[in-house]
Amino acid sequence: MTLLTLQQITKNFGGLTAVDHIDLSVEKGTIHGLIGPNGSGKTTVFNLITGIYPLTSGTITFNGMDITGYPAFKVNQKGLARTFQEIQLFYDMTVLENAMMGCQRLTRAGAVAALVKLPWVTREEAFIREKAMAALDFVGLSGTAEEAARKIPYGHQRLLEVARALAGDPELLLLDEPAAGMNHAETRELMALIARIREMGITVFLVEHNMKMVMEICEWITVINYGQVIGHGKPAQVQADENVINAYLSGENITC
Ligand SMILES: Nc1ncnc2c1ncn2[C@@H]1O[C@H](COP(=O)(O)OP(=O)(O)OP(=O)(O)O)[C@@H](O)[C@H]1O
Ligand SMILES: [Mg+2]
Repeated sequence: MTLLTLQQITKNFGGLTAVDHIDLSVEKGTIHGLIGPNGSGKTTVFNLITGIYPLTSGTITFNGMDITGYPAFKVNQKGLARTFQEIQLFYDMTVLENAMMGCQRLTRAGAVAALVKLPWVTREEAFIREKAMAALDFVGLSGTAEEAARKIPYGHQRLLEVARALAGDPELLLLDEPAAGMNHAETRELMALIARIREMGITVFLVEHNMKMVMEICEWITVINYGQVIGHGKPAQVQADENVINAYLSGENITC
C-alpha cells in the first residue's frame, strides 16, 4: 500500500527550478532513501511535503488524502513528522520540553484552557509528558531529560530531534541527513534505531549522504539530480545504474 505519493511536484525559486516534476511513491512500512548531489533538491522535496514551502505545481497525497497546500501544522496533524538538516531545537528549554513540542497533534488544549489550568488540561499535560519521556527512552536520552538542550552533545541533539518527531506518534517520519556530523559508532547506533522505528510500524523516508548507511537500511532508493529523478529501485539496482554512478555515486565514499 502506498502511503505518500508525489505527482509531478515542482518548485521554482525565481528563475531556479529546485524541484522539477518529481513523481515518487513511498510504500507503507518501508525505509525509502532520497539521495543525490549537494543542491539537487532533496531538502526542498521535504520542505514541500511538510508544507514549509508551497508547491509551484503538482500534488501530494498522504494516506489517500490530498494534502497539497496544507500548512506545516496541518501536515503534522495528519501524521507526518520530520527532522531537519540543520538541527532546530529550543536550546534554552530542557530535553524533555523539546520532546514535548512534538506532541502537538495529540493535544486539544488552547492557550486560554492552559492558562486557567482546567483539570483535563492538567491530565493532557501529564499524558504529553509521558509520551515525550517514552520517545526519549526509545532513542536513549531519558537520562538527560532535565538537561538544557544546549548542554547535550551534538549527536544527542540529532537524536532529540528524532524523539520529538516520534513523540507525536507519526505514521511517516522524514529524516533529513540524520547521520550528518555523527561518528562511526553513532552512525551504527542510528541505523539500529531507524530499523527499530520501522519495526514499530512507522514508515521512514530519509535523505542521507552516507551511502553505506543508505545502501544497508533502505529498501527503495530514489536518486535526484538538478531537481529531477534520475534513478529509482532497490539498492543494488541503483548502485549499478550508470546515470546514477556518473551523476553522484562515483564521487561518494561508501563507508560508515
Ligand atoms: N529558500 C530558497 N530560496 C532560494 N533557493 C533555494 C531555497 N532553498 C533551496 N534553494 C535552492 O534550491 C536548490 C536545491 O536546494 P536543496 O537545499 O533542496 O538541496 P539538497 O539536495 O538538500 O542539498 P544538500 O545535499 O547540500 O543538503 C539549491 O540550488 C538551493 O540553493
Ligand atoms: Mg539538503
